[in-house]
Amino acid sequence: MPHDSPSSHSLVPRPVTADGGSTGGLTLTAATRVSSDPAARGTLMWLQRELGAATGLPLATGDEADARIRLSVDAGAGLGDEGYRLIVDDEGAIIVGNDPAGVFYGAQTLRQLLPADAYRDAPLGNGAWTLPSVSVTDAPRFAWRGVMLDVARHFQPKREILRFIDLLAMHKLNVLHLHLTDDQGWRVEIRRYPRLTEDASWRTESQLGSSRPPVFDGRPHGGFYTQDDIREIVSYAKARHVTVVPEIDVPGHSQAAIHAYPELGESGRIPVGTRWGIFEDVLAVTDEVLEFYRNVFDELMELFPSAYIHVGGDECPTAQWKKSESAQRRIEEEGLADEDELQSWFVRRLNDHLTARGRRLVGWDEILEGGPAPGVTVMSWRGEEGGIAAARAGHDVVMSPTRTSYLDYKQSDSEHEPVKVGTLLRTEDVYLAEPVPAALTEEEAAHVLGAQVNVWTEHIDTPRRLDYMVFPRLSAFAEQVWSTGERDYAEFEPRLRRHLERLDAAGVEYRPLDGPRPWQTRPGVVGWG
Ligand code: ACM
Repeated sequence: MPHDSPSSHSLVPRPVTADGGSTGGLTLTAATRVSSDPAARGTLMWLQRELGAATGLPLATGDEADARIRLSVDAGAGLGDEGYRLIVDDEGAIIVGNDPAGVFYGAQTLRQLLPADAYRDAPLGNGAWTLPSVSVTDAPRFAWRGVMLDVARHFQPKREILRFIDLLAMHKLNVLHLHLTDDQGWRVEIRRYPRLTEDASWRTESQLGSSRPPVFDGRPHGGFYTQDDIREIVSYAKARHVTVVPEIDVPGHSQAAIHAYPELGESGRIPVGTRWGIFEDVLAVTDEVLEFYRNVFDELMELFPSAYIHVGGDECPTAQWKKSESAQRRIEEEGLADEDELQSWFVRRLNDHLTARGRRLVGWDEILEGGPAPGVTVMSWRGEEGGIAAARAGHDVVMSPTRTSYLDYKQSDSEHEPVKVGTLLRTEDVYLAEPVPAALTEEEAAHVLGAQVNVWTEHIDTPRRLDYMVFPRLSAFAEQVWSTGERDYAEFEPRLRRHLERLDAAGVEYRPLDGPRPWQTRPGVVGWG
């Protein structure tokens, strides 16, 4: 069998090994039958649905003897967590996964081996669906391969979340962290506190860009997910081996909640935020507020089965607590040193609540300040330092430092780049970033669960703009967290160009490698980077 580099098939992310010819192989026809063992049935259904739509072929379920595509789980095959082996020859295609997720990733790879039109939703009526003969062995480098989507600053409709999940799964990413609340909006229905969505899920207008003094668009913005929407999202994600991790951001970034229930705050009734930034209106640290959020998190845990629950914890100014009688009383009663310890105390109470219900708290790296609660997981965003300190203290960490992980940051220095914010983060920079801080020993590095890119949406107001900011940088990120071995952008770029054909077929409006199309620019809207 000829030996090719994995790049010969333009697979993204690159698998551990891919050997074989680029000639076929197996041609799918109306007679092609598929089969699975019970553990792999979810992927069989996915494959029939997706490839069935793209090819127009029935891909009917057959018995194992006449099936040409066969899926199974074999935990004893030594493939590693989420690993798989895919073998295609003239006889058929066999996918063996270490677990159901592994089978799913094998099926994703199988789809990539077909022409890019395999990513369309209906057949074009031409061409043969031929898989090259190949042998792929593969498994991910990290267990946490995440994307955070901020649906608070700008709401994305449910259908876009489902589409986004498909795109994550296509890239073998497995965590969708939804930032559900912020100063500018509350996006998840909580039955016990209906005003959170009745009153706090919309704002009167939005700041346009970051110019000072601020400029506003004069147009209301809003939206929220009902509990049934969330159940659908979680279930859709689960079928694609994506875990949805919800974030309710406390005790800062809570202006929308305080608008709906002023007793949560220190400042009386305030509007839902219309500007971007960090604001002094924060939660009061009273028993009533804790009870409110315990109830909120209880409903959240009913909806989201994820092991991890994100409590935010970032960017919480302490000015109001310094002047607040109840906050100062709490500091004194609990023997706390200062307001940092007060925030830590608040997060600890939530940690007690979550851990008593079998969940794990994850928070932004500010939760290290004032002493982190035992067992919490830290999301390192203000550089690598939080991650390094947390790992050294024995905490699990997810790396998402701004410089390599913030997909709201500008993709080039060109004047045509829309609403430039942050530091330069090109596709190449995302590709070459190393998630594990060099300063960590091997033992400490074992606490790095993986990495995550964050999509903050102050300036991402539509799904079209989301596509522009996320792709193709997400394709590069997938390789950062999935693939092992050296990463060389010169080797990746030709593969990425082929991969863009898949994104085109899927209808993704990514940023072309050489810059925005005219309608992807945003003249006159000022950023800050
Ligand atoms: C963050 O970017 N405020 C986590």
